[in-house]
Amino acid sequence: MQPFGVDINLQTGEMLEPDRIVVRRASDMQGYYADADALEQLIRRGDPIHYEVFEKPVPETPGNLMYCISKLQPGLIGDEFYMTKGHYHRVRHTAELYLCLRGQGLMLMKTEEGECVAEAMARGRLVYVPPSWAHRSVNTGTEPLVSFCAYPAEAGHNYGDIEEQGFPKRVLRVQGEPQLV
Ligand SMILES: [Fe+2]
Repeated sequence: MQPFGVDINLQTGEMLEPDRIVVRRASDMQGYYADADALEQLIRRGDPIHYEVFEKPVPETPGNLMYCISKLQPGLIGDEFYMTKGHYHRVRHTAELYLCLRGQGLMLMKTEEGECVAEAMARGRLVYVPPSWAHRSVNTGTEPLVSFCAYPAEAGHNYGDIEEQGFPKRVLRVQGEPQLV
């Protein structure tokens, strides 16, 4: 493998010429939001993009670092702010860094034991996700929430108990303000 460089626009958070783009639409989020009817309406209204992950993948072997740009659109499903599915890492003893480049939001994290913590995300803030913590971004602002992330390349993804149980807390708009409920 040879060294290489990647161009990222730090203002917009765009990765120039990504090799892979993971696209999640509203229809990929069925079962994740409290208000299923509101999500169905959004799907019928054109099933817009919910979030995207831009990558230039490296081999998923120990010693390499995977990295990406995550871009989560702003919006509400009922009273619940747009969020990513969230995941654990398949290899549990792997952490992750998220450096927020644009937008406003929260990184919601939980353990299998039921602990749940939210860290603020805003431009210039770095969130450290320790090993064994599932993590999900939530966009509480009015523009895309964009982060640069980096993690051990062998980590993989595991949706674990999230599809069935979700996270212990949701981020809702209450009287115009984001609130953990
Ligand atoms: Fe991750």
